[in-house]
Amino acid sequence: MIRAFAPGRVNLIGDHTDHQGGLVLPIAIDRGTTVTGKSGGDRVRLRSDDEEGQVEVRVGGGPPLALGPEWGRYVSAIVELERPARGFEGNVSTTLPLGDGLSSSAALELAVALALGFEGSPLELARLCQRSEYLAVGVPCGIMDQLASAAGVADHALLIDCHDTSINLVPMPEGVDVLIVDSGQRRSLEGTAYNQRLVECARAAEEVGPLRLLPEVGGIIDPVARRRARHVVSEIVRVRAFADALLASDTQAAGELMLESHESMRTDFEVSTPRLDATVEDLAATPGVYGARLTGAGFGGSVVALAAHGAALPDGAIRVRASAAARVTSEPGD
Ligand code: GLA
Repeated sequence: MIRAFAPGRVNLIGDHTDHQGGLVLPIAIDRGTTVTGKSGGDRVRLRSDDEEGQVEVRVGGGPPLALGPEWGRYVSAIVELERPARGFEGNVSTTLPLGDGLSSSAALELAVALALGFEGSPLELARLCQRSEYLAVGVPCGIMDQLASAAGVADHALLIDCHDTSINLVPMPEGVDVLIVDSGQRRSLEGTAYNQRLVECARAAEEVGPLRLLPEVGGIIDPVARRRARHVVSEIVRVRAFADALLASDTQAAGELMLESHESMRTDFEVSTPRLDATVEDLAATPGVYGARLTGAGFGGSVVALAAHGAALPDGAIRVRASAAARVTSEPGD
């Protein structure tokens, strides 16, 4: 039996910066997706614990034989890009809520790629899976989700420079909990204005060059492009400051930066929703919570908060821990 597990991620701060080569600060979490099964044959055949239907794809190429549930598109894209030597028959299960902004699609991509025998560095794995997301759903996402899942380290956040993909580990301070609250608004990236935001950022970059290198956005004439760029530029500054705050165990400062980040996503990048805003406001007013913000792409999904360890868990919140990277947990024959 082969068992491959890939964690989801929650981004503490630094959203909509990865596609501009900026900084992000995610953690891999202690929830994720597992693919279990046996390799062999010339087809990849997978079922899910949670959904009806079956996915069946030929390993040598050609159109999928059965795409079954929606998640089959990701499997098919991985098979096409990875070109495994052999097929696989097995099962997918997940402890991640789907469509909640915790990177359930990246976790599926990585778990499938590893189950099919991917051999390579975490960065190569992340790149393959990032390309598969584009192939599967046409969204040219950044590298954050896949790299966080591929390179996660227990009890550490990952300060990733998405331009050169270098990673600095930032220890999570003692006595701090990471909380996630589902806004209740499901979504998947292809149904959002994610691609439109990329176009708007590209328009800004056409005027002034790469946004990650920009000290300020005054030179951008197009008002929408200027606001999008202002989010990217200010968010990169906040990521650095937030990493410093974690290193200094300055949880108050970290919390304030999260609230500022949310405000910037709401007003300048316009990816929040009234439900996300209300969830952030409720959390911010909760005793023991240092700060909160929407996490991931926005348009729905989840809110992340930092809170004092042991404080009462707000309604609907779950606690997550910074966790280790995607891995094959048992070798064939185990
Ligand atoms: C999604 C994408 C990531 C990133 C975030 C926003 O999760 O997959 O690459 O752009 O949105 O930070």
